[in-house]
Amino acid sequence: CGIVGYIGKLNAKNILLDGLEKLEYRGYDSAGIALVADQTVITTKTKGRIADLRQAVANDATGTCGIGHTRWATHGVPNEENAHPHQSQSGRFTIVHNGVIDNYRQLEEQYLNGVTLQSDTDTEIVVQLMDKFAEKGLSTEQIFRNVLDVLDGSFAFGLIDSERPGELFFAKNKSPLLIGVAAESNMLASDAMAVIKETDQFVEINDGEYGILTAERYQLFSGTTNEAIERAPFTASIDADDVEKGMYPHYMMKEIDEQPGVIRRIVQKYQDETGAFTIAEDLQAAVINADRLYIVACGTSYHAGLIGRKLIEEKAGIPVEVVVASEFGYDMPLLSEKPAFLFISQSGETADSRQVLVKVKALGHAAITLTNVPGSTLSREADYTLLLHAGPEIAVASTKAYTAQVAVLSILAETLGKAQDIVQVHDMAHELGIVANAMQTIIDEKEQIQQMVLDYVATTRNAFFLGRGVDYFVSLEAALKLKEISYIQAEGFSSGELKHGTIALIEDNTPVIALVTQPHTQLQIRSNCSEVQSRGAKVAIVVTEELAQTGDTFVIPNTALELTPLVSVVFTQLFAYYAALSRGCDVDKPRNLAKSVTVE
Ligand code: G6P
Repeated sequence: CGIVGYIGKLNAKNILLDGLEKLEYRGYDSAGIALVADQTVITTKTKGRIADLRQAVANDATGTCGIGHTRWATHGVPNEENAHPHQSQSGRFTIVHNGVIDNYRQLEEQYLNGVTLQSDTDTEIVVQLMDKFAEKGLSTEQIFRNVLDVLDGSFAFGLIDSERPGELFFAKNKSPLLIGVAAESNMLASDAMAVIKETDQFVEINDGEYGILTAERYQLFSGTTNEAIERAPFTASIDADDVEKGMYPHYMMKEIDEQPGVIRRIVQKYQDETGAFTIAEDLQAAVINADRLYIVACGTSYHAGLIGRKLIEEKAGIPVEVVVASEFGYDMPLLSEKPAFLFISQSGETADSRQVLVKVKALGHAAITLTNVPGSTLSREADYTLLLHAGPEIAVASTKAYTAQVAVLSILAETLGKAQDIVQVHDMAHELGIVANAMQTIIDEKEQIQQMVLDYVATTRNAFFLGRGVDYFVSLEAALKLKEISYIQAEGFSSGELKHGTIALIEDNTPVIALVTQPHTQLQIRSNCSEVQSRGAKVAIVVTEELAQTGDTFVIPNTALELTPLVSVVFTQLFAYYAALSRGCDVDKPRNLAKSVTVE
């Protein structure tokens, strides 16, 4: 979910709606805003997108203070009742919330007997508690504090008290929230992008803090001591143009196209004046001194981690294990004696990854975060951060963040290898330059890919991507991408393993896309392709120039063998994009998903 708040001199309506549009990547199944005008709070909520909310909000709605919310349902189906803002029974308090209140059922039983709830959400419990705790003589701050004290879980709140219409209250624990500061207004946002058109000055809020905004000032307090906290704003370096689509029909296509530029930017950012890669020595030491590196991630970032393992083991001789965050945190294997942890997260906010970070920090292990978002929760809480420099990624399906992750991992691998005097075969900076050009070649051939996709996916209900080694890891990402945005049931499979069961799913015309980029496995993959072809599959072979044979379907340029994932994946991104487009799917906002999932 995403939240935004505004208090100032302008009409808050459009600032809130524009802000919510920028936060739609965090969820888009329902939305709402509340505006305060003349001590009255007017709330508008809808099921669906921000575009639907825009239609629903009255044309003449005004108010110089307001809060807004875009939802990714956790408790309660997406409908108008469950959409935020939620209001207390008396109508005095109105709230928006991102996060999950774990003990909401107990709180309901303990305090809310006799209150008729309007929704199925954990959030409504919080706002009803505000009413319940509002005894005579207590200030809003005191009531809010008393409520915060009984909550377990994660939250970022924006809160309106109709008795204090010139103020906006907020609190944060484990869910992201920033204060935006401008000349005659102050704002709240889950992400700086939401209000970057209004200001580039932001104030961090730490877990456990709460505060009050007016048009003129922001006040922050510690939730434990209630003492005021002085904190100066920082300048967010987001280019407002980076968060616009420009001429592109979809953010996803814009972000696919940006990849060659991102790779070149990463090389530059990690090079020193002599052209050698530099990474903080203490970060390097943390990995080199460990006896094993655990890579922890979810989704696409997990798939990048699989390539990272290969790169780091090969180039730096350090054993690596790659784990899915949501499993690892609750079913931790016997750790090695001196482990180090690398968290890969585009957003730096994923709750599944964060719970592992909290656990391993408590055990005293070193933690590094590889993220696209400086200042994100995972970055702040780890000992070290490596940045992706990919620019804001807005399409829900990750593309440029994946390739940026793999590129930075290759730089990390080479740097760790050099630090240990391991002989390097390649000059990675040069090889990444070749990769950027190879990506561009594929992007320039997108029309050919669009044609080919129609042949493969016009009517199919399922599809397979096959590979071995790194090609297998890319096929996992390829399948995820296709599933996410086209809803075709897709599976990435190790081509050798397919025959041990899953081959039963192959029927006439089942699309099977094989990735062939490694000389030492090409014969085996080709023979696995023959096996499915003779059972009716419609096989496409995507192959590097070096290994191409007559009859292969799509040829990608040669690059260093360990970097072929960066190139072959671009083909699969375009494949998924055009498959989704041909099926009339919403490419940038696929159903049921959110880009940044801040609940476990
Ligand atoms: C969500 C997104 C995925 C993403 C995953 C991990 O599920 O829909 O696209 O790969 O989170 O996100 P992160 O920001 O931690 O890389």
